[in-house]
Amino acid sequence: MLVRLLYASRSNTELTPEMIDAVLATSRRNNPALGVTGLLCYSGDIFMQVIEGGRDVVNQLYTRICADERHKDVILLHYEEIIERQFAGWTMGQVNLARVNPSVLLKYSERPVLDPYKVSGQVSMALLQELIATACIVSRAG
Ligand SMILES: Cc1cc2nc3c(=O)[nH]c(=O)nc-3n(C[C@H](O)[C@H](O)[C@H](O)COP(=O)(O)O)c2cc1C
Repeated sequence: MLVRLLYASRSNTELTPEMIDAVLATSRRNNPALGVTGLLCYSGDIFMQVIEGGRDVVNQLYTRICADERHKDVILLHYEEIIERQFAGWTMGQVNLARVNPSVLLKYSERPVLDPYKVSGQVSMALLQELIATACIVSRAG
């Protein structure tokens, strides 16, 4: 049984490329064995991550992520049982939203910035789907 979980959080320190690389390295080390796929978006001090996989695994990983002291204000935006994955191609894809065309962000919010705390989980999921459709997702840093 597969589920998809979406959350957002705020970094506890300035979001540096080193910190993002460290999170992605851990994700790419652990997620294949867990059967987890997903996407990590970031912009300013905000993370937004979708994780897909088996229900137990996703729930346990989310609990672990919530306890991570590198971020705070973790908010669950969306959780659903799914028939198929949307991010099957990514162990943990990444999107630096500062590099995405602002019109993509503006399509889903009042201003062209990522603020998952202000929009519905449904809107944030729609933004992620748009990122897939417009090939904004990067598999590896660089
Ligand atoms: C924003 C964010 C996203 C994370 N995503 C994942 C993830 O997808 N997979 C993962 O194993 N750990 C992820 N982590 C790290 C976990 O919180 C935790 O540090 C890690 O799973 C511990 O694994 P380790 O014992 O192998 O170091 C994330 C952390 C942060 C701050």
